[in-house]
Amino acid sequence: MATQAQTLLDQLPPERRAEVEERVESLLAELSLEQKVGQLNQLNADFATGTAVGDMDVEQGILDGDIGSVLNFADVEEARHFQELAVEESDHGVPLVLALDVIHGHRTIFPIPLGEAASWNPEMAALSARVAATEAAADGVHWTFAPSVDVGRDPRWGRVMEAAGEDPYLASEISNARVRGFQGEDLAADDTVLACAKHYVGYGASEAGREYNTVDISETNLREVHLPPFEACLDAGVGSVMNAFNLYERIPASSNETLVNDLLRSELGFEDVVVSDWNSFGELVEHGVAGDLREVARACIEAGSDVDMVSGAYATELVELVEDGVVDESLVDAAVRRLLTVKGALGLFEDPYRYFDEERQSRRILTEDHREAAREVARESQVLLKNESDVLPVDDGASVALVGGLADSATDMLGAWRAEGDPDDVTTLRTTLADRLDDLTYVEGCSRDGAVDDAQLAAAVEAVTAADLAVVAVGERYSQTGEAASRAHLDLPGDQRRLLEALVETDTPVAAVLFNGRPLAIDWTAEHVPAILEAWFPGVEAGPAIADVLLGEYNPSGRLPMCFPVTEGQIPIYYNRLRTGRPAENADVDLTEPPADPAEKYMSRYLDVPNEPLYAFGHGETYTEFTYTDVSLDTATITSADTLSVTVTVENTGERSGTEVVQVYLNDLVASRARPVRELVRFENVDLDAGEAATVSFELTAADLEFWTADDEYAAEPGEFEVQVGRAADDIVAVETFELVE
Ligand code: GLC
Repeated sequence: MATQAQTLLDQLPPERRAEVEERVESLLAELSLEQKVGQLNQLNADFATGTAVGDMDVEQGILDGDIGSVLNFADVEEARHFQELAVEESDHGVPLVLALDVIHGHRTIFPIPLGEAASWNPEMAALSARVAATEAAADGVHWTFAPSVDVGRDPRWGRVMEAAGEDPYLASEISNARVRGFQGEDLAADDTVLACAKHYVGYGASEAGREYNTVDISETNLREVHLPPFEACLDAGVGSVMNAFNLYERIPASSNETLVNDLLRSELGFEDVVVSDWNSFGELVEHGVAGDLREVARACIEAGSDVDMVSGAYATELVELVEDGVVDESLVDAAVRRLLTVKGALGLFEDPYRYFDEERQSRRILTEDHREAAREVARESQVLLKNESDVLPVDDGASVALVGGLADSATDMLGAWRAEGDPDDVTTLRTTLADRLDDLTYVEGCSRDGAVDDAQLAAAVEAVTAADLAVVAVGERYSQTGEAASRAHLDLPGDQRRLLEALVETDTPVAAVLFNGRPLAIDWTAEHVPAILEAWFPGVEAGPAIADVLLGEYNPSGRLPMCFPVTEGQIPIYYNRLRTGRPAENADVDLTEPPADPAEKYMSRYLDVPNEPLYAFGHGETYTEFTYTDVSLDTATITSADTLSVTVTVENTGERSGTEVVQVYLNDLVASRARPVRELVRFENVDLDAGEAATVSFELTAADLEFWTADDEYAAEPGEFEVQVGRAADDIVAVETFELVE
């Protein structure tokens, strides 16, 4: 729904705001055109996170006043050196702002963002970002390029690991929390960093899940699927937004005036910095929408994009464009004003060295509290996909055979985008189980790349045969997800299935632990392995967090933020699908069988696979049992001024305490545009002891019913709605209807 951004200046106390505005305006008046353009130039210091571009010397560029911000610097010492050059040796003395991709932890690495989202607990996402900011700010970082808020419906795309899954509402709640965690209450504090909502917008819709591929989406799809998490970040006061690489309406996001100036700035009220992605300005030439960097620079500054990450287009072309009268200097001033406001809000004018404190660095990084926080988030991120015959948790005194190279791979536990993460900081599953179990045998069985040789296989079969339980670590390498890591085949890499086939042949029960950065197509595993625990890439506390679940010290509460397909052929697959004119799902037809007669043929289905995913959005098992009763609405009719209250009683009827994620979906039955079969609108984690019950209430208003109508506006249209309460998108326990009247 339309929102109004909280700008950085809005978030400052009045006196601070006046100081920052006054300092910014006086600097703007002092800087030459060349110096102003230099502020908009961002260069890469040490390690590239993208294609090779320009080779401007960073130090010389800073000295010459040609650089306003730097990314990917090596350490605090180098950061301090760059800042000294800018403040004490350059002509203008304007401090730099220093950036790094701190995505899921800085040195204390947390689960990958998709895993954090699986906690369905925004406070876990906020905690992770808070710890990351505390450590990054102690390590010289002013600006993190996070959170990624791309809604992903295609697990072939490697960057689904980096955001919060397939649903706009869950992604909004998680992304808002991440921004709050990073930015805290005061950007000038020494434990906060500027956040950056990325990649604006629609990057998750890359065709065929192929990285950097074409995106071709409608305005309705943009506004209802991809935009909401950005709006949620604006509501949290995010101080920067990053252009996506992709097109919208065949125009690259970086030079797309409709997206930046019209939608983001004018309609949504975002007044702060828009930074390009890595060379995304320069890539206009590759897209074929600009003939040279001069055209690139003009198009991007006119669209409202401020900071040029490594393309050099602004640095080499903008001065001349202004001098030639092609670009009005006021556009440069507006962009520079926004970047200087960031520097003011960060407190860099008062103390450019406030984030370079080696003593604070040693005190704040990788502390026990931070490790405990990482373990807590990693516990809550795990999803029990299956647990036949209560294979898990491990019985006391049981002998366990642990198999799989990933169980012993520290580096893979850090996932992609690991910032300053160090494999030496990781406690692996093997290390923890060896410490906490009396009878553990570890056999590699398959390498962490999934390679299996006969000898390893034989040794694994022998060890598993002799044990009471097999715990088998399978999945991807961390480098098989993240940026530039699309995969067309989503089964377990290498020969891991061969290993599982051999182990399930023994009489020993098998529990698989999945390490992965995306949903996988594991239908064989789902059919033959009795227990499957989704662990994602859990970070430095991988071993303790997974052992807490395997050994029953923590009852798994995670739910899938993104569904698992039966096969790649179903992709894109997501729960909040449109009905189509020939819906198959609501017919009592068995879609796992070929059509038996014409009546079953002419409907939206496949001949060879079901429409439904292997594991649905919101799916997650538990070691206890929860029942839902007394689902009710406090009224059957509301107007746009009313509130509707949905209540449900949840009872823990099992033997263990646990957490149930109660989910509330809406279905708008008739509207001026086709509406999804259900859309998540609320959820709540309910902690219940064995035998305990609780009544949970959710308040809905007409704002929750709004969508992008056929009149091209956000509105709630009168009519009948279903409230669907459940524990997963495919496990709705009750449906109640109400009507919105004029
Ligand atoms: C990369 C990524 C972006 C990241 C930037 C700087 O290409 O697309 O998410 O923030 O470059 O590392």
